[in-house]
Amino acid sequence: MEVRRHDVIIVGGGAAGLRAAVAIADADPSADVALVSKVYPMRSHTVSAEGGAAAVARPDDSLEDHAFDTVKGSDFLGDQDVIQYFVEQAARELILLEHWGCPWSRNEDGTVATRAFGGMTTKRTWFARDKVGFHMLHTLFQHSMRYAQIRRYDEYFVTKLLVDGGAVRGVTALDVRSGELFVIAARAVILCTGGGGRAFPFTTNGNIKTGDGMALAYRAGVPLKDMEFVQYHPTGLPRTGILITEAARGEGGYVRNADGERFLVERDYGVGTKAELGPRDMISRAIVQEIEAGRGLKGTYGEYVHLDLTHLGEAHIEAKLPFVRELARTYVGVDPVHEMIPIRPVVHYMMGGVDVDIDGATDLPGLYAAGETASISMNGANRLGSNSLTECLVFGARSGEKALEFARGSSDASEDVLRQQGAEEGARIDALRGKRKGGEKMAVIREQMAAALERGCGVYREESSLEEACRALAQLRGRYADLGLEDASRVFNTELVAALELGNMLDVAEAVANSALPRKESRGAHTRKDYPHRDDQNFLYHTLCSFDPGGPRIGKKPVTLGRWEPQERKY
Ligand code: FUM
Repeated sequence: MEVRRHDVIIVGGGAAGLRAAVAIADADPSADVALVSKVYPMRSHTVSAEGGAAAVARPDDSLEDHAFDTVKGSDFLGDQDVIQYFVEQAARELILLEHWGCPWSRNEDGTVATRAFGGMTTKRTWFARDKVGFHMLHTLFQHSMRYAQIRRYDEYFVTKLLVDGGAVRGVTALDVRSGELFVIAARAVILCTGGGGRAFPFTTNGNIKTGDGMALAYRAGVPLKDMEFVQYHPTGLPRTGILITEAARGEGGYVRNADGERFLVERDYGVGTKAELGPRDMISRAIVQEIEAGRGLKGTYGEYVHLDLTHLGEAHIEAKLPFVRELARTYVGVDPVHEMIPIRPVVHYMMGGVDVDIDGATDLPGLYAAGETASISMNGANRLGSNSLTECLVFGARSGEKALEFARGSSDASEDVLRQQGAEEGARIDALRGKRKGGEKMAVIREQMAAALERGCGVYREESSLEEACRALAQLRGRYADLGLEDASRVFNTELVAALELGNMLDVAEAVANSALPRKESRGAHTRKDYPHRDDQNFLYHTLCSFDPGGPRIGKKPVTLGRWEPQERKY
């Protein structure tokens, strides 16, 4: 098996991965970086981000306010040292992106335009109309092409982390085009593969978000942290789950029930005067409660409420939210200039991920993670909208620099060890590929996994439904071992890739359910019907979920507090 060597491998070609690659190339022009992605980088999920990226830009704003909003949004589970570093670096990163070509929208006077977003005390979200992810990704991708030392492996699916002598040594990667498996060796690896929302049935996440990086780390012995915290975005389109950006509310949109009431104003859902600009966890709960109280609208794809933009006027919608208009017209046949958009809460983001420190480093020497794949503990129990694009930049860059430092100080792995591990992984992949007799159908396992997660780990959870989800997922894991596959071909064998992705999603799903079960309190996005209050006395800690052949093992890690002690979270 061919072994290719680089200094650092980055797995994932979205915002965090590209930013890490550029940071390494800038820090050391002689460094050799492999950017390995299962899709062409411009198809990474960053492209679908819409509303914006947060950083302090206005004279009436401050780093302190951004930090406190983030701490409070996290329901005091965010690590305050990480949050402080994030807010300090945020504007610098967004300005850097502007220098590389990102077309941030401007105010009349030429300053960068900012819009309101949920849970933020002021207009802090930079935007490029409502296609922010597209413009950011395009900018990063184009900029990355200036560096010859960034060697891209497009459409290579990483199947395993290679570990030897207590450190990560590289990866095995399947060239999806040829079906060939390669060993790609390096002295450091950064995982930037995004989240795993596709394990759920109804999500804003693209098909590619199957928790790959999380599962790779988990199986290599690195714990996943805070996996119980899964964010529901309040405004997804029924059936498809397509995101209608929070910017629609930032620009003045209202949420109304079947009676036309602005229930976030009329009833006490904890969002106070923020109303539609409350944080996502609270608004998602409010929508579910309205529907459960019989004030939702019935549709072919379940009950929903309305997002009302009709009072904003065509000129404003066209200027600020043209993509929202396009999506609503195309996918639900509604023109938001004249009609209200049907919406319901939809799985959007995982606050949990690979347990990393402020440098993006895991406990496995040489292994780093950034972006949604990582849990750097910036978002705690609930992320504020528009913090994550900036997080990808800030911690993509930092993990890149730190991984390079690590790589410089360590030595190459032995060729024999790499070949041996590569051969073992090759045998596993070959056994999975093609005419593999087995009783289980992939689609059935996938559907049952998604259903178990939705029933057990939705907006509201309770002991019995969580126990049931853990049981069902453990059973599905067993059945996955008896998967039957049909396609024996090598070139673009998408059935094989889907089978590997399903294995990854099962890991993520089990980590979510098993992390949620012992947290007998309600905090941020984790809302227990049977334990409706936050309990700092007993649960102010990060959950760690570690792989064990007998089933996930749960541990704890302290939260890093700072200037802000936990207080009641009221808006
Ligand atoms: O609604 C949105 O535009 C999503 C933004 C985010 O998740 O940060």
